[in-house]
Amino acid sequence: MTKMMSCSFSSFSFAIILMLSLFSFSLHKVEARAFFVFGDSLVDNGNNNYLITSARADSPPYGIDYPSHRPTGRFSNGLNIPDIISEQLGMEPTLPYLSPELTGDKLLVGANFASAGVGILNDTGIQFLNIIRIGKQLEYFEQYQRRVSGLIGAEQTQQLVNSALVLITLGGNDFVNNYYLVPFSARSRQFALPDYVRYLIYEYRKILQKLYELGARRVLVTGTGPMGCVPAELAQRSRTGECAVELQRAASLFNPQLTQLLSDLNAQLAADVFVAANTYTMHMDFVSNPQAYGFVTSKIACCGQGPYNGIGLCTPLSNLCPNRDLYAFWDPFHPSEKANRIIVQQILTGSSEYMNPMNLSSIMALDSRT
Ligand SMILES: *[C@@H]1O[C@H](CO)[C@@H](O)[C@H](O)[C@H]1NC(C)=O
Ligand SMILES: *[C@@H]1O[C@H](CO)[C@@H](O)[C@H](O)[C@H]1NC(C)=O
Repeated sequence: MTKMMSCSFSSFSFAIILMLSLFSFSLHKVEARAFFVFGDSLVDNGNNNYLITSARADSPPYGIDYPSHRPTGRFSNGLNIPDIISEQLGMEPTLPYLSPELTGDKLLVGANFASAGVGILNDTGIQFLNIIRIGKQLEYFEQYQRRVSGLIGAEQTQQLVNSALVLITLGGNDFVNNYYLVPFSARSRQFALPDYVRYLIYEYRKILQKLYELGARRVLVTGTGPMGCVPAELAQRSRTGECAVELQRAASLFNPQLTQLLSDLNAQLAADVFVAANTYTMHMDFVSNPQAYGFVTSKIACCGQGPYNGIGLCTPLSNLCPNRDLYAFWDPFHPSEKANRIIVQQILTGSSEYMNPMNLSSIMALDSRT
């Protein structure tokens, strides 16, 4: 009797253990969706801390509103766009690919390959010296996949990458830190603006195709913001506080062609792989009517100096606003966490005016069914 009971008990507990381990195995497989991030300072969450570059956000007051209240390399007072996407989707934030903490199971969360200062072109951001250009970010993505294969096998790695969410943000620096960096820049002597934009789109196509070859199947692609309206450009190029015309013209040429490129690629692939996030309009909403979004200004940066706090860098010696939530721009180029939250809200639930062919909530609902 006792023998039988203990026997059935042990086979019962064996069954439970088996079930639990199968369950945890499958949990390991399909747990949270991985997230990969590529691009520039709008999405870099600390890679440049590990590089010899002048494009860095690793000293105060950067990070003043981050949970640790310390600088992390994010170009924000607090969280940036990928952080808020992770938060809203219930995922762990991604670590910078160069972080020594990115090992073991943490790799399964995904990785952030972005590097402040980079652009579509290799010659963008050369003044920042050692940054991870987009080609190198993609090489690191391959290296990442080899590392994860060693952990969970090649097949599961492929599955993890294919089912991941990807975000890529490029283009702004190709104007601000290249074509318009100095008067008579090499690129501006080489190309008229419309030809330069076509060249950027031609190069961006190759980058996105490579991302697809490397296994990305859901890729959010942001356009440029209203580059002429950032405090740095107001300070340098605007007398009256109106957005700088040339940079606005660049954005108005680049963004529609990018959206067209993405829909061409999708047609070619016969799948909605690439999703256009109209970050221009998302920004423009609060730039043109800051009060409606709870900001006191969209022209003056919280941290900086000179007109519009738009001159130079945000440093410990800069002017600093007491309440960052009241400012659309944190520093001369980058939105505040509050503004980033407004942008992510539109990415999640925006109408077709903002997200094409669909918003992130629809993507999540669609992908959870397959
Ligand atoms: C950028 O550099 C990489 C690596 O050297 C090269 O493969 C790529 O073709 C270059 N891109 C452009 C636009 O020149
Ligand atoms: C998000 O996208 C879905 C599908 O396109 C749409 O039904 C929904 O209305 C969108 N959300 C909003 C707030 O527009």
